Amino acid sequence: MGQGVFERKFMKIIVANWKMNGDIDLCDKIINNLKLVIYPESVIICPPSPLLFMFREVKFKYGAQNCSTNLKGAFTGEISPSLLKSIGCSYVIIGHSERRNLFGESNDYIFQKFKLLLELDLIPSYYKEVLEEQLKYFIKYGNLNKAIFAYEPVWSIGTGIIPNIDDILEVTSFIKMQTQSKVLYGGSVNKKNATGILNIASIDGALIGGASLDPNEFYEIIKISEKIK
Ligand code: PGA
Repeated sequence: MGQGVFERKFMKIIVANWKMNGDIDLCDKIINNLKLVIYPESVIICPPSPLLFMFREVKFKYGAQNCSTNLKGAFTGEISPSLLKSIGCSYVIIGHSERRNLFGESNDYIFQKFKLLLELDLIPSYYKEVLEEQLKYFIKYGNLNKAIFAYEPVWSIGTGIIPNIDDILEVTSFIKMQTQSKVLYGGSVNKKNATGILNIASIDGALIGGASLDPNEFYEIIKISEKIK
C-alpha cells in the first residue's frame, strides 16, 4: 500500500506513557520544557494518577493509565473514570500489554472499560497486539471513531527494537481501515527514530514510554512532530 491514501486534518499526536515512573519534580520539568510547544492540544501526558493534578493548569492534554469498570462503589484501590473526568483528564489508556500480561486483564474486561469511557466522553487509547482477535470486539460495537488505537508490538516495548517501516505502515493501515479511528505506533520510539516513524502516513502519532521520561528528549520528539504535516 502506498503512503498517499491517508489524509489528516490535525497534527500528529504525541502521547507520553510514564508507566509507574515520575514524581512531582518530573512534572515541573516537563511543564516547564513544554511551554514552547506550538500545538499543545496534540500532546497528551499520562503520568501515574496521583500526579494528574499537577497538569490542571497546562495547555496540553493529560490522561490516566488505567481506570475501573465501575463509576463508584466498594472497589478498593480502583479509580473511577468519572473522577478522572472531573479532574480534567481527556484520555484513559486501556488494554496495554503490561495490564494484560502482568495483571491478567482480559479482552472482555478491557472492553467494559472501553464502553464506559465512551459513554462518559473520555477518549480510550487502546493498545493492540493480537489484532484480529482484539479488533473483533470493537468492530461489533461500532462508534469507534472517538477512540484512539495504538499498535504496540510487545517485543518492541522498552527493547530499543522497532519493526520496519513497511510493517508499521501495513499493520496501522489495517487497524485504521477496520476502525476508522486514529492510530498510533508505540514501542521504543525515541528522538533518533521519531522522524522515520512519524512520517509514516498511516499513523496519527506515537506513544512513548521510556523516552517521555527525559524532558529534553521528549521535547525534541515533539519538535520533530511539529514539522510533519
Ligand atoms: P517504550 O514504551 O517507549 O518504553 O518502548 C512504550 C509503551 O509501552 O507504552
